[in-house]
Amino acid sequence: MNILDIIEKKRDKKELSKEEIEYFIKGYTNNDIADYQAAALVMAIFLNGMTKQETTELTLAMAHSGEILDLSKLNEIIVDKHSTGGVGDKVSLILLPLVASLGVPVAKMSGRGLGFTGGTVDKLESIPGYRTDIDMNTFVENVEKIGISMISQTLNLAPADKKIYALRDSISCVESIPLIASSIMSKKIASGAEKIVLDVTVGNGAFMKDVESATNLANEMIEIGKLAKRETICILTNMDEPLGYSVGNNLEVIEAIKFLNGNMPEDLKDVVLELGAYMIKLAGLGDNIEDNKKKMLENINNGKAFNKFLELIKNQGGDTSYIENVEKFDKVKYILPIYATDNGYISQINAKEVGKLACDLGAGRIKKDDKINYSVGIILNKKVSNKVIKDEILGYVHANDEEKAKSTAQKLKEIIKIDQEEPKKLETIIKVIQ
Ligand code: URA
Repeated sequence: MNILDIIEKKRDKKELSKEEIEYFIKGYTNNDIADYQAAALVMAIFLNGMTKQETTELTLAMAHSGEILDLSKLNEIIVDKHSTGGVGDKVSLILLPLVASLGVPVAKMSGRGLGFTGGTVDKLESIPGYRTDIDMNTFVENVEKIGISMISQTLNLAPADKKIYALRDSISCVESIPLIASSIMSKKIASGAEKIVLDVTVGNGAFMKDVESATNLANEMIEIGKLAKRETICILTNMDEPLGYSVGNNLEVIEAIKFLNGNMPEDLKDVVLELGAYMIKLAGLGDNIEDNKKKMLENINNGKAFNKFLELIKNQGGDTSYIENVEKFDKVKYILPIYATDNGYISQINAKEVGKLACDLGAGRIKKDDKINYSVGIILNKKVSNKVIKDEILGYVHANDEEKAKSTAQKLKEIIKIDQEEPKKLETIIKVIQ
């Protein structure tokens, strides 16, 4: 077998065999297959797709490219959560300590920012001292000790995904159902969870632009979950406008901390409660979705969720004084407000465009080794369907470079659309597929 034949086969729209897929994954993980050859094959997959069988084989090969974490010593049902990505998506930072505070054990391996979307690991690393690169024993011990650990993909879990994920990002091959499904499910299988709740985002700020393709992606992941004996539930959520108000790493951490202290933007609250209610259900701690939501709100109001977040940060080396006083987080040099040019209603805040602006400010990476600037980003003051009056502040650009601050402010002003007619409010939860 050789990689050229495999590339040619996929280029010519033919189905790859299990052996060919395994050969590629093994060779690429071991560095026997060059980046440019892997890039050619990934692009061919992106353009020509994969059958369900091929996607399943790709997922299993990627999951087995490293170790498979054995969480059976925890003697509990581990429920994992993952999102297909979004802008302003700080859900994991809030949801996971929240469900952990209700007794759902959380062992979470998160990703870095991909394309215009942010990543939980970059956000966690904006908390001074927080370590996302702990070893596997400590990871499991943390879950045993305090019921939660959140780490990056630095362990030897699905290393093939780590390489392919970075490669896809650098060659514009992210938005593909087989590549996203195999990326997410290989990580979930390798990280040992028995049950999985997936947030499948839909809209201009998501990789799936419409409900139909998001449904196809969800069904594919549910099917892979079945084959791998991991019960999987997918929740389709709206990503036409950024989630919550903040976009950028420490800005989103601050919004998450405020949420855990009871200041909950409506769309973010809807997503957190819906995903959490199903996580609690899968963990066997409550079948009634509405009751589960009530329990979650109770733990926000009584401070237990916030305390669990503090415990998580402390346990992984983070400086909790930042969590207790968000004013301590690094600030940018320039904060520019944007003003409404007219009276009316906010009709659109294109999430992808906002994500790209935040990325250009330094909140994300253009090249895979770029350093993140943790304090830059965008804070919105309004959401779609809100009423505005002329000269009211619509949002702020947080930047460290004056020229960039000004040009970003100008672009943000164009992205936030105002209309005379009141638009329909965006539905946050689109559907649940199980
Ligand atoms: N999240 C992942 O882990 N992988 C993808 O491909 C997209 C989002």
